[in-house]
Amino acid sequence: TEIAARTQGIIDELKHLEGPLLPILHEIQQEFGHVPQETLPVIAHALNMSRAEVYGVFTFYHDFRRAPAGRHVLKLCQAEACQSMGSEAIAAKVKQALGIGFHETTADGAVTLEPVYCLGLCACSPSAMLDGAVIGRVDDETIDEIVEAVRA
Ligand code: FES
Repeated sequence: TEIAARTQGIIDELKHLEGPLLPILHEIQQEFGHVPQETLPVIAHALNMSRAEVYGVFTFYHDFRRAPAGRHVLKLCQAEACQSMGSEAIAAKVKQALGIGFHETTADGAVTLEPVYCLGLCACSPSAMLDGAVIGRVDDETIDEIVEAVRA
């Protein structure tokens, strides 16, 4: 398949690195927008690892997506500083407003919701990131604006 061929190309390019697994997974996600499940056994074979090992690493890192993302990607910081400023309640509100949980995409493909662990914006916590742009001091009003923006 085309995915297999492109995956093999990425592996060939990066497998000489020390600790090649993460760079390969990142590059695959860059290439396809997510990590297609069928690439995992190919990677395992190429790196002489078991499928379970590769799968374990893939699932350990929250950055890797199992499925294509929606048109918008909304990340909500769930690390300590943001947690102390109410990020869990914010996440609950956003999940309810969008009708999805973390690592899910709305049925219309509008938005994917993901947790993130510190955006380096702790001073302005709780923080979020919408399509790569950081948003600080997220409150109820911000949530409404974000939800409206991703639905538009
Ligand atoms: Fe959320 Fe640092 S903990 S930005």
